[in-house]
Amino acid sequence: MRKEKKGISLNGFSACYDLLTPAECSRLRRRQIELAGVREGEAVLDVGCGPGALTVLAGLAAGRKGSAAGIDLAPRMIERARRKAKRIGLEIDFRVASVDDIPWPDGSFDLVISSMMFHHLPVRIKEAALLEIHRVLKPEGRLFLYDFAVPSPLTFPLMLLLLVWIAPTRYQLLGRLPALIRRCGFVYSEWIHRGIFFNGTLNYKQRWPARPTEEPDAGTPEIGGEQPCG
Ligand SMILES: C[S@@+](CC[C@H](N)C(=O)[O-])C[C@H]1O[C@@H](n2cnc3c(N)ncnc32)[C@H](O)[C@@H]1O
Repeated sequence: MRKEKKGISLNGFSACYDLLTPAECSRLRRRQIELAGVREGEAVLDVGCGPGALTVLAGLAAGRKGSAAGIDLAPRMIERARRKAKRIGLEIDFRVASVDDIPWPDGSFDLVISSMMFHHLPVRIKEAALLEIHRVLKPEGRLFLYDFAVPSPLTFPLMLLLLVWIAPTRYQLLGRLPALIRRCGFVYSEWIHRGIFFNGTLNYKQRWPARPTEEPDAGTPEIGGEQPCG
């Protein structure tokens, strides 16, 4: 019997991934952390973490009272992520695992981050992944999903031309992901970022409490103390 593909592993790209994509010092990564609203003391899991750029920033934002963990299908990505965390002096639990089989018990995390990974998953695995993320989130937990969605008018022709041929990406470009997210148990979603290519949503297990509203900057953690960029 043919083994079902869990996703597109980027094992072979681990050495050049940080050179080709925004690394932990970039504005994009800091913006992602702001959008996800990582708060001190939270337990955060980054699924499909690659070499861990976002995971280390999440670890710094969660601080000593919180924790960060990351999983990826690609063993070499995980090796790099471990080395990165060690260099910065952060304790992060990085494991080789697939997002449809997360090796943590129910209700372990306040926040799950998925950045630029969902379009790697075959459609059936997307559903299994969302159910699994829902399982490991605490009752008031949230999922920050940063990925392809219905394109803006500006990029629509380009996206259609390049990406509509790939089934997992087409699924997202046609706007099917939000309904699947709801079917998997997330009762409330908000659009928090509409970019040229990628969009960001926060998806909650419960309608409320969601994000603190009392201060204008409440969702923006200060990334201080240890700095990954020296
Ligand atoms: C485009 S990279 C994104 C990496 C990182 N999250 C970022 O924002 O740069 C997608 C990552 O997802 C991983 N991946 C693909 N399928 C996966 C799965 N089923 N479970 C866990 N990781 C997976 C790939 O190995 C790759 O490292």
